[in-house]
Amino acid sequence: MKIQIINGPNLNLLGRREPGIYGSRGFEAYLEELRQRYPQDEILYFQSNIEGELINKIHEVGFGMVDGIVLNAGAYTHTSIALHDALRGIGTPAVEVHISNVHKREEFRHHSMLSAACLGVVLGFGLDGYRLAIEGLKSQGEG
Ligand code: DQA
Repeated sequence: MKIQIINGPNLNLLGRREPGIYGSRGFEAYLEELRQRYPQDEILYFQSNIEGELINKIHEVGFGMVDGIVLNAGAYTHTSIALHDALRGIGTPAVEVHISNVHKREEFRHHSMLSAACLGVVLGFGLDGYRLAIEGLKSQGEG
């Protein structure tokens, strides 16, 4: 399968940002491990702090360019109707991921604008959530 991981704002700081919540591992090292785990799959990665760039990437890879999207939109999860519309506008299944369990945190993190436009949601399992999302896409793809 060809899978596009998209990380949104502040996720470039993983490993340095609030390690008590997000862990002390950078994403690049984790990505390397993921790629080794799924050598038969192509795992593409994109990160941006800019909402419009995330939307452009969703448009670019939607419409059959990849088999699935794993999206951690960071704080835009809670605010972005534009990202919701982008996900709805493409035919590609997407899984929403959060490293932390957002429901144990501030109330403003409890609502997602994106979940209703996604195939499923994985949250609270740390970086392993990206792997779980890939497993979800795979099982749907094979099913
Ligand atoms: C996050 C949770 C969001 O509320 C937060 O704004 C993030 C990261 C997570 O992965 O737990 O930037 O998406």
